[in-house]
Amino acid sequence: MSGILSDLSRDALSALAQVTDEAGLAGWHREMLGRKGSLTEALKGLAELDADARRARGRELNALKQELEVAFESRQAAIQSELLDSRLLAESIDVSLPGRKPAVGSLHPITSMIREVSEIFAHLGFQTVEGPEVELAEYSFDMLNIPKDHPARDVWDTIFIDTDQVEITLRPHTSPMQVRTMLQQEPPVRVVVPGRTYRYEAQDATHEWHFHQIEGLAIDRAITMTDLKGTLAEFARQMFGAERKVRFRCDFFPFVEPGVDMSIDCPFCGGRGCRTCKNSGWIELLGAGMVHPNVLANVGYDADAYTGWAFGMGVERLVMLKYNVQDIRQFYGNDLRFLSQFGRARL
Ligand code: PHE
Repeated sequence: MSGILSDLSRDALSALAQVTDEAGLAGWHREMLGRKGSLTEALKGLAELDADARRARGRELNALKQELEVAFESRQAAIQSELLDSRLLAESIDVSLPGRKPAVGSLHPITSMIREVSEIFAHLGFQTVEGPEVELAEYSFDMLNIPKDHPARDVWDTIFIDTDQVEITLRPHTSPMQVRTMLQQEPPVRVVVPGRTYRYEAQDATHEWHFHQIEGLAIDRAITMTDLKGTLAEFARQMFGAERKVRFRCDFFPFVEPGVDMSIDCPFCGGRGCRTCKNSGWIELLGAGMVHPNVLANVGYDADAYTGWAFGMGVERLVMLKYNVQDIRQFYGNDLRFLSQFGRARL
């Protein structure tokens, strides 16, 4: 290759090596290989040469052109792949970063308690069933041995939905589910019934117009008061500690005979007396009793062949006792600071 052409080649290649982007590439191509580029200019000079020299020079120029084109293409490829690399680098995300945790809620303490109680009774052979919150007064009262105009009906401070044709209540207790359950099946019966209940009451630290109860009912041949006491004592110990003592005293509910209430020795002071148990050493947990023969007869059970017992307890009260909650209204205040204390969801 003659001196001029090898200079041209060297200059062109070193200029190409300096190029770093697409615009530089295009500029270089225009300058070297374009219509007015150095190589084209050199080709123009061919006309002035004689035939032999023109042929030799022409071959050289073609070789140079090819060399430059190959160099151009490989530089172009290199630049494009560098650009791609740096773009990929700029746009890359770190997939190893831990994700943002979604906020997971937890079960409401009342729901947790209902599940806990149901589980204890499930191990004792009781099925969990649920029933309607809007309930016929016939089931809330009449079938439970509380006839219309009987003064005991007032005890439940009932919210009535309708009184025109048929009396319809927001159930003031879960006891109507005793009736529904027995109407639906023959003995033996062993059920617990958690659910919402409603009473027309002034609200304070221990009263809500809307709360929850769990009813229990066991009917079979030869069921006695002993079964009631044994089962409920076992429940109290599983819920509030194996060392709990239980106390049964007479109480009156029209649908049981005899009727009792059950207390546990105060889990806060061990029975010595404190604020929570109002210095009595005892805390009342539930009402219970042997199902009244009239109730058995009302649902068509043979009261000579079958006996049974029932209980009813407040769920809010259980949670308040177990976790030392001072005000029942906190359960329905929708305050996450209160609710989130009761742990993660157990779904
Ligand atoms: N239903 C009664 C109440 O709400 C509780 C109870 C249930 C009592 C079953 C005895 C038997 O006060």
